[in-house]
Amino acid sequence: MNYDFDQIISRNGTNSYKWDYVKRDGGIVPWDETDVRRHAKPVLPLWVADMDFPCPQPVVDAVTEIARMGVYGYAFPPSSYYDSVVRWMKRRHGWIVDPDTICFTPGIVPALHFLVSAYTKPGDKVLVQPPVYYPFFNAIENLQTRPALNPLRYEDGRYYMDFDDLEAKCADPEVKLAILCSPHNPVGRVWSAEELRRFGRICMDNDVLVVSDEIHCDLILGNHAFTPYATLGPEYQERSIICTSPSKTFNLAALQASNMMIPDPGMRDAFQQTVRSAGIFTLNPFGIAAVEAAYDHGEEWLEQLLDYLEGNFRFLESFFRDHLPGIPVIETEGTYLVWVDFTSLGLDKDALQRLMMEEARVFLDEGYIFGPEGEGFERINIACPRSILAEALKRIEAAVKGLNT
Ligand SMILES: Cc1ncc(COP(=O)(O)O)c(C=O)c1O
Repeated sequence: MNYDFDQIISRNGTNSYKWDYVKRDGGIVPWDETDVRRHAKPVLPLWVADMDFPCPQPVVDAVTEIARMGVYGYAFPPSSYYDSVVRWMKRRHGWIVDPDTICFTPGIVPALHFLVSAYTKPGDKVLVQPPVYYPFFNAIENLQTRPALNPLRYEDGRYYMDFDDLEAKCADPEVKLAILCSPHNPVGRVWSAEELRRFGRICMDNDVLVVSDEIHCDLILGNHAFTPYATLGPEYQERSIICTSPSKTFNLAALQASNMMIPDPGMRDAFQQTVRSAGIFTLNPFGIAAVEAAYDHGEEWLEQLLDYLEGNFRFLESFFRDHLPGIPVIETEGTYLVWVDFTSLGLDKDALQRLMMEEARVFLDEGYIFGPEGEGFERINIACPRSILAEALKRIEAAVKGLNT
């Protein structure tokens, strides 16, 4: 079946976080009429990692079948659910997962909270590599732990891990856990096996447990190759927790089903105990059905999606090269999030945010929310019909050029 990713599906007024909220008065608030009165045109949202495309038809069919039944009682993931996860990881990534190691949670962000809670105590340190997905910081703060920062190095338009700094940070005995973002949101790096091995070696040598958040693992562009952390070798697998979910790949976030792979039985028990102590015992029936349908029948859709995203990335890249050549676009190797360097404009973070929200009328994720290393950058979500992306880019161009008039 051919999917039409150019099709515009109106999401306004559907309780969509992406479309029905705006950034205003220092927060993200529900959209209302005052926004129209204040501004000539409605804002275009290219911020939160949510795609504007319809799901694979088999997912829509599976969810519709449950909705039609009309009885929405408790559900539980059956063995076929785990089999679908295992088959997908083997087929797409060559990773052999033991189904007994899989622990479900209603999302990776809650899982990160449970992981920090299960494996650290208040006051411990958790290592992260900013600029990075900001809920990592929330989990660290909410569980009264402290961040140990190992910022990425930005050199010649590409990001790299700083291994010397990593060694120094991991040598601190208070660092108990490291959260790896692989592929990395927002800088778009797909880490090589060599980089992951060095990262893992340093963590293991210092007895730092690795949590590898691999939610973007299926969204790999160009010729880049994703390496699941657990495939680096048995010792890497045993000292790690891998976070996976079809929710970014197929845009199923609201159905709240994700899977953590925890091979070590003691660590798995500790994690499950933490999840249960939060009163979570199961998933919802829509999420269960969607995971199975997506992993079993969503591959054809995913191949088409990846072609479309690659086209959107090349479109954006050539737009900046032709129209705004002083603003470098970082190559997106994986994810559908593009990290763009606006530092040459010389604006502080508030002025850059104002330029995007109020002048361009595009809602992007501001670089600074990923850590101070991100100041002066913007994260653009390109998972939308190309016509919407084109309109957003034209608006950004006009706003940037308007700065000098
Ligand atoms: C790295 C990363 N982890 C987790 C999430 C969100 O996970 P969930 O919706 O399952 O809580 C995102 C969403 O953008 C993400 O980029």
